[in-house]
Amino acid sequence: MPEALAAASPPPNWVESRHPLGWAIDRLLAVEPLRQLLFWQARGLIIRTAEGRGIAWRQRREQLQAAAEPLLAEVTDPATQVPAYYRARFHAYDQGNLCWQAACEAEQATDSMALRVWPLEKALPAGEAQQRLRSAIFSAIEPSLCGPVHRALDLGCSVGVGTLALRDWLQQRQQARGADAPVQVEGLDLSAEMLAVARVREAERQAARRAAASGPASAGSPAVVTAPPITWHHAAAEATGLPAGAYDLITLQFVCHELPGEATGAVLREAARLLRPGGVIAVVDQDPDSEVIRRLPAPIATLLKSTEPYLEDYFRLDFPAALQAAGFREVRREAADPRHRVLVATR
Ligand SMILES: C[S@@+](CC[C@H](N)C(=O)[O-])C[C@H]1O[C@@H](n2cnc3c(N)ncnc32)[C@H](O)[C@@H]1O
Repeated sequence: MPEALAAASPPPNWVESRHPLGWAIDRLLAVEPLRQLLFWQARGLIIRTAEGRGIAWRQRREQLQAAAEPLLAEVTDPATQVPAYYRARFHAYDQGNLCWQAACEAEQATDSMALRVWPLEKALPAGEAQQRLRSAIFSAIEPSLCGPVHRALDLGCSVGVGTLALRDWLQQRQQARGADAPVQVEGLDLSAEMLAVARVREAERQAARRAAASGPASAGSPAVVTAPPITWHHAAAEATGLPAGAYDLITLQFVCHELPGEATGAVLREAARLLRPGGVIAVVDQDPDSEVIRRLPAPIATLLKSTEPYLEDYFRLDFPAALQAAGFREVRREAADPRHRVLVATR
């Protein structure tokens, strides 16, 4: 149920905790060869688990890289300034988000993340889990939207999993309202590799739609949703260079846990600048009130923190206050699923 937001949620205990087991794992991880061995094993487990659930992790990585590499120059804006914090090691990739491996495994990792939200549903296909995750996010946004959305921006779009879902939802919403003006959806990320993969994924989606629309099975089925191509921007979310007051909706899907606290403040201020008055921001990420998150065992929490350099900042930040300080009002909070919350606010 949506609820008006009065106060920040306290961080889970493990954010500050110096649990003996967590501490011991931290010490082990400080020894570089041990860290590499542990992460190599953890990575193998993640890939095997994903492949066991029908996510073709390695095959898809090769396929995406071959298709995305030729697009790199086209999506790169050489003037883009990369903040120092962004060069940190993320998710055990030494070059963080700035490498092909991270970009070509992001889709698989995102699908694995969606499956982990419903761990008891062993037969749930990854695509369905992803759809369920995104539908819940968009349902949480809907009550704050008054009127049509003409232009939307997905900040920290990565390889576009959330951006494509956002476009489908907005286009269907527009059609359901009887409006035929197309919705312009844009994605923005600091990683050119991610954006190149996003372009490949968008083209694949279009091709699949065209094939479905021209096939015999399409006769009598509802019209395929058509929408303008997504515009992909290579920029920092805190300094986008995009026009002020131009957007009706801005989403930050699973981005803020990758930002130091000050950067989150700067991104929220930039989003406030980009939104028109009455425009809406939606911030979805890990839910500090989630029982699953609060009860993470100490060793898992320590491992998680070691792959997410700003996770502690994320949980310590008073998001409602940060949103208000950036110029937003009517902050609402909704639990989208057992692990994630959506904060929605109006400019
Ligand atoms: C976990 S991924 C987001 C996933 C994606 N939004 C989704 O919903 O599936 C975080 C993304 O944020 C991007 N990012 C992190 N800091 C950023 C910044 N300051 N500006 C732009 N993008 C940023 C990273 O490059 C990465 O692609």
